[in-house]
Amino acid sequence: MMSRCAAFVLLLALGIEIQLSHATEVSVNTTDNKLCLYANLMVNFSVTYEAAGNKSETAEFELPDSVTTEGSTCGNTSSTLKLHFGDGHSWIVEFSKKDKTYQADSVIFSYNLSDSTIFPNAASNETKNVTVKPHITDVGMDTSYSCKSKEMLQTDAVNQTLWNVLIQAFVSNGSKSENITVCAADVPATTVAPTTNTTVVTTAVPVTNSTAPLPTTTPTPPLPLPNIGNYSISDNGTVCLLANFGLRVTFTHGEKSQEMNLNASVTAATGSCGVNSSELVLSSDILTVILSFTNESKKFKLHALNVTAKSSSGAVLTEANSSLGLWEAAVGSSYMCNKQQDYNITDVLTIHTFDLRVQPFGVHNGQYSTAEECFLDSDLSFLVPIAVGVALSFLIILVLISYLIGRRKSRTGYQSV
Ligand SMILES: *[C@@H]1O[C@H](CO)[C@@H](O)[C@H](O)[C@H]1NC(C)=O
Ligand SMILES: *[C@@H]1O[C@H](CO)[C@@H](O)[C@H](O)[C@H]1NC(C)=O
Ligand SMILES: *[C@@H]1O[C@H](CO)[C@@H](O)[C@H](O)[C@H]1NC(C)=O
Ligand SMILES: *[C@@H]1O[C@H](CO)[C@@H](O)[C@H](O)[C@H]1NC(C)=O
Ligand SMILES: *[C@@H]1O[C@H](CO)[C@@H](O)[C@H](O)[C@H]1NC(C)=O
Ligand SMILES: *[C@@H]1O[C@H](CO)[C@@H](O)[C@H](O)[C@H]1NC(C)=O
Ligand SMILES: *[C@@H]1O[C@H](CO)[C@@H](O)[C@H](O)[C@H]1NC(C)=O
Ligand SMILES: *[C@@H]1O[C@H](CO)[C@@H](O)[C@H](O)[C@H]1NC(C)=O
Ligand SMILES: *[C@@H]1O[C@H](CO)[C@@H](O)[C@H](O)[C@H]1NC(C)=O
Ligand SMILES: *[C@@H]1O[C@H](CO)[C@@H](O)[C@H](O)[C@H]1NC(C)=O
Ligand SMILES: *[C@@H]1O[C@H](CO)[C@@H](O)[C@H](O)[C@H]1NC(C)=O
Ligand SMILES: *[C@@H]1O[C@H](CO)[C@@H](O)[C@H](O)[C@H]1NC(C)=O
Repeated sequence: MMSRCAAFVLLLALGIEIQLSHATEVSVNTTDNKLCLYANLMVNFSVTYEAAGNKSETAEFELPDSVTTEGSTCGNTSSTLKLHFGDGHSWIVEFSKKDKTYQADSVIFSYNLSDSTIFPNAASNETKNVTVKPHITDVGMDTSYSCKSKEMLQTDAVNQTLWNVLIQAFVSNGSKSENITVCAADVPATTVAPTTNTTVVTTAVPVTNSTAPLPTTTPTPPLPLPNIGNYSISDNGTVCLLANFGLRVTFTHGEKSQEMNLNASVTAATGSCGVNSSELVLSSDILTVILSFTNESKKFKLHALNVTAKSSSGAVLTEANSSLGLWEAAVGSSYMCNKQQDYNITDVLTIHTFDLRVQPFGVHNGQYSTAEECFLDSDLSFLVPIAVGVALSFLIILVLISYLIGRRKSRTGYQSV
């Protein structure tokens, strides 16, 4: 009864909060009325300004939910989102495209000090501008950028706080993508085991009929698949190690687990090649992965793995195992596994690979040699369900036969009476 009551109070509190802070949702269309830029976000501003009497004042306000988008443009390689609000204020984001990603190059915030509702007693009546660079980078093409965490953009006079951000620039086919690029701050999503009572609250939230758009109330989205990295190591100018794969790691602590993707677009590959051992070191913003390969009796394998992760709380986790025997194949060939593979590295660490191909020894002309495919990929894996089926039918036949024999025996029993 108590917990139900508490959940109700919590819902009520959430409802009120939703009413207080609205997200700003805007769409920009091309001239032929197709969606080309979408944004749904919340921004808080804190501006210090000089007031009459040589005093310093601070104004705090939010980006209102009613804004206009005049002057916004969508181009092939650059786009601009212009939001006008209040009495002559504007908030402008410039996006640019490069290769398969896009980013926000700058945020230009203009505020009109002659707006006395926001800046009472301002000494000046000019419009001031501040330009900052947000961390909205490496957003995959045709994906939305999502960041529920707060991002602070600071300058001397102005602080801007962005949160619950969902933005897609360069929308290609007129509709927003369901695929998202999650910001680094959101990534080490802590998944709480669904057995705890907290689920009562999280599952109840999306049911509320609030006016706020969905993205602000939905729980942290599941991690998208990691992107596939292509890594190579050269020795004296010639490629000696090749690897490509997508990597996700899971750290498990009791009932809690943390999942992180290795973001290939911000990963640097270093390492070394030897005759009997080669090493590949992948370093990204939050993960460092060291893969050690050995070459023994004409076969290579992944012998050791060391994963170091920085969690959102700043804690550093390291897990290593140096007695592995994964990805084994003949030297002179490569190892390949396109299907997702999950490996328990330690009690705490599990890794998941996607579209894996590696060749740590004997690379010629910078190209992979013939692949030895993993069992999951192989043509033989279809035999498994067949074998199970055969075994099952065999069992059924066996049961049937013993039943028939049993019946016949009991019938002979009757006749003899
Ligand atoms: C943009 O286009 C969509 C249809 O593609 C339309 O529903 C929407 O109202 C348009 N928005 C604006 C601001 O014109
Ligand atoms: C944004 O501002 C509103 C009111 O001005 C305040 O209630 C809210 O806590 C602020 N949010 C953040 C993240 O600063
Ligand atoms: C205003 O304050 C500045 C320092 O903050 C000072 O240098 C200046 O003399 C003051 N002007 C007046 C008119 O008080
Ligand atoms: C500021 O406003 C005052 C009156 O409101 C006006 O006299 C003055 O010219 C304005 N200054 C500028 C720079 O526009
Ligand atoms: C700020 O930008 C606006 C337009 O974006 C411009 O009209 C204004 O002159 C700029 N102000 C300053 C002080 O640069
Ligand atoms: C901006 O944030 C910093 C750190 O939180 C704070 O020291 C500063 O006073 C803030 N500036 C404004 C204009 O709010
Ligand atoms: C999402 O990404 C997957 C794989 O990258 C792709 O197959 C799918 O078409 C994408 N969906 C949308 C709506 O873009
Ligand atoms: C979960 O709720 C049940 C009753 O609804 C209660 O008995 C139990 O102690 C709660 N568990 C936790 C971890 O709060
Ligand atoms: C939400 O509101 C819509 C109409 O605005 C209504 O049809 C729907 O039943 C409501 N859902 C809930 C869960 O109250
Ligand atoms: C590096 O390559 C150059 C020419 O390709 C060769 O002369 C040199 O001996 C090589 N050095 C090593 C350490 O293999
Ligand atoms: C794993 O690598 C880190 C540095 O990246 C190092 O400090 C640590 O000792 C290594 N652990 C093992 C068991 O090799
Ligand atoms: C990995 O560990 C989990 C539990 O810790 C277990 O359920 C799973 O079967 C293990 N997988 C392999 C391949 O050993």
